[in-house]
This record gives sequence, C-alpha cells and structure tokens, in this order.
Amino acid sequence: MRLAVYPGSFDPITNGHIDVLERSSKLFDRIIIAVVHNLTKKAMFSLDERVEMIRQSVAHIPNVEIDCFSGLLAHYLAEKKACAIIRGLRTVTDFEYEMHMAMINRELIPEIDTIFITSDKNYIFISSSAVKEAAMVGGKVEQMVPPIVYQALKDKYLSTRS
Ligand code: PNS
Repeated sequence: MRLAVYPGSFDPITNGHIDVLERSSKLFDRIIIAVVHNLTKKAMFSLDERVEMIRQSVAHIPNVEIDCFSGLLAHYLAEKKACAIIRGLRTVTDFEYEMHMAMINRELIPEIDTIFITSDKNYIFISSSAVKEAAMVGGKVEQMVPPIVYQALKDKYLSTRS
C-alpha cells in the first residue's frame, strides 16, 4: 500500500491543488491531504472551514482522505507510514522554497521522498494567496476555485463590506 501525504495550508483549496491531487492519486494507492494547523500563521479560513471545503471539492477522487496535523511534518509522515510527500510545482519561483523544504524534510526523514507534481498550464498562475487577494477586492475568481470555495470567498467579501 503506497501512501503519500499532500501537506499544505489549503487556505483555501484551489483548482490548482485539485489538479495536483487528481494527478497524484493515479500514482499512489492512498493520498492523505494533510491540512496544517499552524497557530502562528493567520489563515483566512478556520481549520474546520478549510477541511470542509476540501471534503466537498475532492469527493470525486476515491483514494483521497483528509486529515489535519500540527507540529513537524516529518513526525506526521512517520506516524502515517507514508512513503512520499506530494508538492505542486508551478513556476521557477516555487522552486527555491520547495527545494529548501524538500531538503529539510530529507534531513529529518531520509527514507521519504518529496515528489513534485507540475500543474496543468491552466493553473500555473493560481495560488491561494492571489485568489484571496483578488476575491477580497471583488475580483472574479470563479474559474480558479471549486464552487464551495467561490461561495465562501464571496461571503467573506460581502461581510467585510457590510
Ligand atoms: O501550503 P503551504 O503553506 O506552502 O504548506 C507548507 C507546509 C504546511 C507543507 C510546511 O510549512 C510544513 O510542512 N509545516 C509543518 C512544519 C514543518 O515540518 N516544518 C519543516 C519543513 S519546512
């Protein structure tokens, strides 16, 4: 049973994340989407909101599960007996950060490899932060996120204006 972990903030999940998941779900028996519970980083959506949006957005991928973790990713990977970390790679600007993270994880848990999945060209400009920024000033982000996320962003936008 080859289990991979796809860790991230997913604040919120985007169509780019889903593309990476659909691609990686064909390479592994099971994938756990591991949503980080980071007390020091302010997220727009609560952990429960992020998990619920992911749950509704990945229901069509049969071998994907959702979980949360806090603390060190390496500890979580060991606990789950994962064989790989999945990370999406869009452009060269991602590379330095991702390489650094992969190297730290290699140092902490050498038996686990980081697998980079490149997004479809239609998604390379999509990031959670860009989507949030655009949505908060009324930008149309409908094509960039799943419907449940689009609705949640619209609700946040409207609540900040009232
Ligand atoms: O979606 P993100 O914010 O780029 O995901 C980053 C994440 C959550 C994968 C990374 O920050 C992480 O693994 N955090 C857990 C703490 C840890 O293990 N740090 C050492 C590796 S950088």
